[in-house]
Amino acid sequence: MVTVPASPSGPPSRVEFDEASGTVLLRTADTAYILRVDREEGTVRHIHWGAPLPLADAVSLPVWADHADSFAGRWDGVEEFPVEGGARFGVPAMEVRFADGSSPVEARVEDVVLRGGDHVVVSLRERTRPLAWRLHYRVPAGGGVLERWTEFVHTGTADDGDVLLVRYASAHWPLPQRPGWRLSSVHGGWSAECRLERTGLPVGETVLSSRRGHTGHAANPWVALDAGDSGEEQGEVWVIALAASGSWRITAQRTAAGRASVVAGEGHEGAELRLEPGDRHRTPTSLALHTAHGFGEASRAVHRHLRAHVLPHPEELRPVLYNSWEATSFEVTEDNQRALARRAAALGAELFVVDDGWFGGRDDDRSGLGDWTPHPGRFPRGLRPLADEVHRLGMAFGVWVEPEMVNADSDLYRLHPDWVLHLPDRTATELRHQLVLDFSRQEITEWALGWLEQMIAENEVDFIKWDFNRSFTEAGAREGGPDAKRVHIQHARGVYRVLDRLRSDFPHLRIESCAGGGGRVDPGILGRTDQVWPSDNTDAVDRLTIHHGFGQLYPAGVMSAWVTDSPNPLTGRTVPLRFRFHGAMAGVLGIGADLTRWTDTELAEAAELIAVYKDIRPVVQHGEQFRLLAPGQGPLTAVQYLGEEGARVVVLIWRPSTAFGPAQPPLRLRGLQEQARYRDEDTGGEWSGATLTGFGLPLPDLPPGDCASALVRLRRVEGTEA
Ligand code: GLA
Repeated sequence: MVTVPASPSGPPSRVEFDEASGTVLLRTADTAYILRVDREEGTVRHIHWGAPLPLADAVSLPVWADHADSFAGRWDGVEEFPVEGGARFGVPAMEVRFADGSSPVEARVEDVVLRGGDHVVVSLRERTRPLAWRLHYRVPAGGGVLERWTEFVHTGTADDGDVLLVRYASAHWPLPQRPGWRLSSVHGGWSAECRLERTGLPVGETVLSSRRGHTGHAANPWVALDAGDSGEEQGEVWVIALAASGSWRITAQRTAAGRASVVAGEGHEGAELRLEPGDRHRTPTSLALHTAHGFGEASRAVHRHLRAHVLPHPEELRPVLYNSWEATSFEVTEDNQRALARRAAALGAELFVVDDGWFGGRDDDRSGLGDWTPHPGRFPRGLRPLADEVHRLGMAFGVWVEPEMVNADSDLYRLHPDWVLHLPDRTATELRHQLVLDFSRQEITEWALGWLEQMIAENEVDFIKWDFNRSFTEAGAREGGPDAKRVHIQHARGVYRVLDRLRSDFPHLRIESCAGGGGRVDPGILGRTDQVWPSDNTDAVDRLTIHHGFGQLYPAGVMSAWVTDSPNPLTGRTVPLRFRFHGAMAGVLGIGADLTRWTDTELAEAAELIAVYKDIRPVVQHGEQFRLLAPGQGPLTAVQYLGEEGARVVVLIWRPSTAFGPAQPPLRLRGLQEQARYRDEDTGGEWSGATLTGFGLPLPDLPPGDCASALVRLRRVEGTEA
């Protein structure tokens, strides 16, 4: 056996390759992922994904195959990157159309190259046609996540014509054999995002997708699979996610022969990509994780990965924000914003964001989008005097923008009606009275960069809330062609280009991703933004469900949550101030209320709660999250955070509605050191880790009635840790 260590003298290799058997072993702390390259057959077969195994065993493990008959795709579900071609009948990860209209692909393996100790590339090539594709596998340091992506290259000349990529997935992730599979995912809609659903995976193909040109509210690009018997803290769970912000598709397939696998890639059906000779296309990254410790640990491991490898500034604490939207809507003026800013600063807010309405002729949602100069009636002196006042009050200054959109009633549209991605001879359907600008075109992204950079520089803007308020319709590239729908992918790449340039030109700038709430939340956008707005629904009770689903993949440190007025404008529900605060304190706290109407008592309570939040913020934003009681499964919902190297614990408990019944049992905490002692910072009560995890934290008294909540802060008593 010849093992090729990737870095003979460097850190222990997380990727190993046995040349003789063609076996590649990817290792994380407690997972192995094994594939086998067969040069003769031109195949890359999957062997194992799960518990750690040594390479010595991996080299001789058999490849699973279904029995052979003339109707079977015997390798369906067990190839690393199934193509359309040969006796394959499962979901292809790659499907192409060559210039002569033919599709079937026959592969040969070119080579297997280790890059450093954490990255391996398996290169394949069509036997006779002008196409090569490279499967990239990377094992980032210090976590359980695997990353995969694929590069496609047109290797021919003009004589070969173009190659159309019909399906071009980032990865196909085969799962081990289990008697059955359960699929977890989130779904929803505007103001009802992130509803977690767990359902048996039927034989066939289950597709989660966005055909909207953006990540979407209806589904989020990740799935978790388990054999149906895993729980929050126990059992094997496999998570697969995609770092894409345009249209996407994740297909979970279960074959009648009992194999399950997941294909994850950009583009929905019909959104094809044309490669001209020499062109190269790199897919977004697909992330995947296996754990033997339940859904809770799966979430924590992804959170750790996003913090360590994706978020631009994971070391920072996100500021307490004030946002004007629910207070002043489109009626923002310099005067009313100054009044709100003074109140917000007095409460302890650290960032003041002027939302929609500050620009062009934006008196409502029918006009002005695209005209990014200050509204002459509302900010006759421009934004700078307000920015100066906000800075003088000791807060950072933020501005709402929606650069990808235009109202037909705008100077921009009158000047450039051809800038929208709606096709010229089709109805340009307006949603929220707006049309989408084609950000796949460089001249349009340059225009956006021009005004954004000027606005940020002139007003010393510290933060932008980047919004996107409608899905694509009638979208296509103006010049047409077989891949006119590529804008569903390339528009989002244009957004990335602008965000990347803004970040490099203004290193201090922080960015929030918003798309009518949570319509653009994914690991791709999180590589370029600092926080996301999960939902326009700010009802603190509804948010418990939304936060529960959001946290399955995304950490609390990126989850914006505002305290708004009561009754809630969307649901009409009346919720006490404390409950609203406790709800928003589960993420990145913000205030979105009309503070000029709050009483002195409310303002005093808010100031006290903001001070408490600042105290617990490092634990909530940077700590590990344990979902103790999920919403909707009993009277209580509870979340625990463990932070500051295990020295601090925060527990948030909510009871949305009361019901007469048996007393609730103590809350069994998690992740604590058994021997250590933990003191309640507010009551002085003290317990050992063993008691808090084994017996539980006695429930604090909750006020009577609906919408009761409590916050518990525990600190490990120094010298008692193991
Ligand atoms: C979207 C956002 C809101 C607000 C409005 C402004 O709906 O999600 O928070 O910014 O746009 O028009």
